[in-house]
Amino acid sequence: MVLVLLNFVFSAVTAITNLLSRLILTATACLLVLVIQALKLSGGAMKVAIEQLSAFAESFFVSLVEGIGNIFSTLFDLSKERISNSADAIGSALGVLMEQTGNSVVGLLNGLALVFEGFVGMVSTIITDLWNNLMDATGYERERERSCVYKLKISGNRNMARKLMHAVQYNSYGGGAAGLKHVEVPIPAPSKDEVLIKVEAASINPFDCKIQAGVARPILPRKFPFIPVNDVAGEVVEVGSGIKNFKAGDKVVSMLKSTGGGGLAEFCVAKGNRTVPRPPEVSAAEAAGLPIAALTAHMALTQFAGVKLDGSGPEKNILVTAASGGVGHYAVQLAKLGNTHVTATCGARNIEFVKSLGADEVLDYKTPDGAALRSPSGRKYDAVVHGTTGIPWSTFEPNLSENGKAIDLSPGPRTMVTFALKKLTCSKKQIVPLLLDAKVENLDYLVKLVKEGKLKTVIDSKYPLSKAEDAWAKSIDGHATGKIIVEP
Ligand SMILES: NC(=O)c1ccc[n+]([C@@H]2O[C@H](COP(=O)([O-])OP(=O)(O)OC[C@H]3O[C@@H](n4cnc5c(N)ncnc54)[C@H](OP(=O)(O)O)[C@@H]3O)[C@@H](O)[C@H]2O)c1
Repeated sequence: MVLVLLNFVFSAVTAITNLLSRLILTATACLLVLVIQALKLSGGAMKVAIEQLSAFAESFFVSLVEGIGNIFSTLFDLSKERISNSADAIGSALGVLMEQTGNSVVGLLNGLALVFEGFVGMVSTIITDLWNNLMDATGYERERERSCVYKLKISGNRNMARKLMHAVQYNSYGGGAAGLKHVEVPIPAPSKDEVLIKVEAASINPFDCKIQAGVARPILPRKFPFIPVNDVAGEVVEVGSGIKNFKAGDKVVSMLKSTGGGGLAEFCVAKGNRTVPRPPEVSAAEAAGLPIAALTAHMALTQFAGVKLDGSGPEKNILVTAASGGVGHYAVQLAKLGNTHVTATCGARNIEFVKSLGADEVLDYKTPDGAALRSPSGRKYDAVVHGTTGIPWSTFEPNLSENGKAIDLSPGPRTMVTFALKKLTCSKKQIVPLLLDAKVENLDYLVKLVKEGKLKTVIDSKYPLSKAEDAWAKSIDGHATGKIIVEP
C-alpha cells in the first residue's frame, strides 16, 4: 500500500515538472524570436509585431490555462486509475487469500473427515471380527436358533418349526451379486411382538447393497450369514402372543428392521408395530416398493422441505434429482400433491416418464444445464431432494432460494463438512443430511395413497427369488427406473 502511494506521488510530481518546464522553454523561445523581429522591423511593422505579441500572449495564457487543466485532468485520471488498480489489486489479493484459506480449511476438514472415516472403518472391522469370534466361541447364535425353534414348538406350530425355506444370504462384506448364496434355512419363528409373513414380494434398495459393501460396519449387518432386504409385502401366517391387530391370512406390507433384514426369503418375521394392512387394491409388488423409498421421499418433502401434501401452504419450488429412481419417482408424485412447482433431473431416456409423474420441467442430467441443475424457467429452489452423488455445494448454492435447502439422501464426508460449516456460519442456505426415520403411520398413509390412485409404484423389473443375484446386480448398477422387485 505504501509503495503504491509513493509511486503515485512520484509520478504526479514528475508529470507537473515536465509540463511546466516545457511551457517555460516554449514561452522563452517565442519571446526571443519576437524581440529579434521587433528590433529588425520599424514603423507599421512594429505595430504588427505588437499585435503578434499580444496574440501570442493570449494564446500563451490560453495554453497555460489549458495546460494546467490538462495537468489536473491527467492527475485526476492517473489517481483514479491508480486507486482503482490498487483497490483491484488489494481486492483480488484478499480474494485469493480468502479462497486459499477457505480451500485449505475445507481441504483440511475433508482430509480429517476421510481420515476419521478410514479410522472408523478400521475400528469397526476389528470390532466386527472380535464380535463374530466371540459369538462363535460362546455358541450364542446356536443357542438363539435353538430358542427360536423352541418358541415355535410351544406356539404349537411343530410343522413350521421343522420346515426349511429357500433364502438368499451372504457370509461376509463385499462380493456384490456373486457374494449372494442360495440356501435352505429353518423358517424363522415370530417372537411375542412379531408376525411371520409369507413373502409375496420384496424390494431391493441401494442401501441393501451398500450394507453388503460394508458402509455401516460393524453395526450392519449384526452378524453373518445375513439375509438382506427390509421391504416386504405378503400374507401373515402366524402371529406372536402379543400381536392383537393382525391374524393369519391378513395381507400386509412391512418394513423389517435393518439390523435383522430377512426379506430375500420365502418367509420372514416382522415387528407388528412396523407392519400395516394392505388393501386388495394394492398389489404385493406395489406395496413392497414403498417402505424405504417412499418413506424417504415423504420425510424429505414433509419434514425437511415443509411441503404440505394436502395442497395447503405457500407454493414451493422443489428440485428432485434422480427423479427416475426408486426415491425420486415417489418424490415427484408426492411433491405434486402439495402446492409445488417441480423441476426434476434424469437421463434422456426417462424425460417423458418423469413428466408423466407430474414434473413441471425436466432436465437431462448429462446436458450442461442439467449438470448445473439450472431451472429452465429460472426458478430458485426452496428444497432439493437430492438422490444422486457427486454434486458439489458450489452447484447447489446459486440455484437455491434465500432459505433454500439441499437434502442429501446419500451424505458423504464432504456433505457433512459443508453441513457443519453452513450451520456454524448460520448460513441461510443449507445442505442437510437425511437419515430415514421410518414411521409406521406414514407407511399406512402411503399405502392409502396408492389405494386411492394418488401415488403409484413404478416397477423397473421383477425377478424370481432364484434369480435374486440378477436383481442385486441391477440395483448395484444404479440405473433402475422405479423399483426392483423380487418375488419368491
Ligand atoms: N438416507 C436415507 O435414509 C436413504 C433412504 C433411501 C435411499 N437413500 C439413497 O438415495 C439414493 C437414491 O436411491 P434410489 O433408491 O432412488 O436409487 P436408484 O433407484 O438406484 O436410482 C437410480 C436412478 O438414478 C438415476 N441417476 C443416476 N445418476 C443420476 C444423475 N447424476 N442425475 C440424475 N439421475 C441419475 C438413474 O438414471 P439413469 O439410469 O438414466 O442413469 C436411475 O434411474 C441412493 O444413494 C440411496 O442409497 C438414502
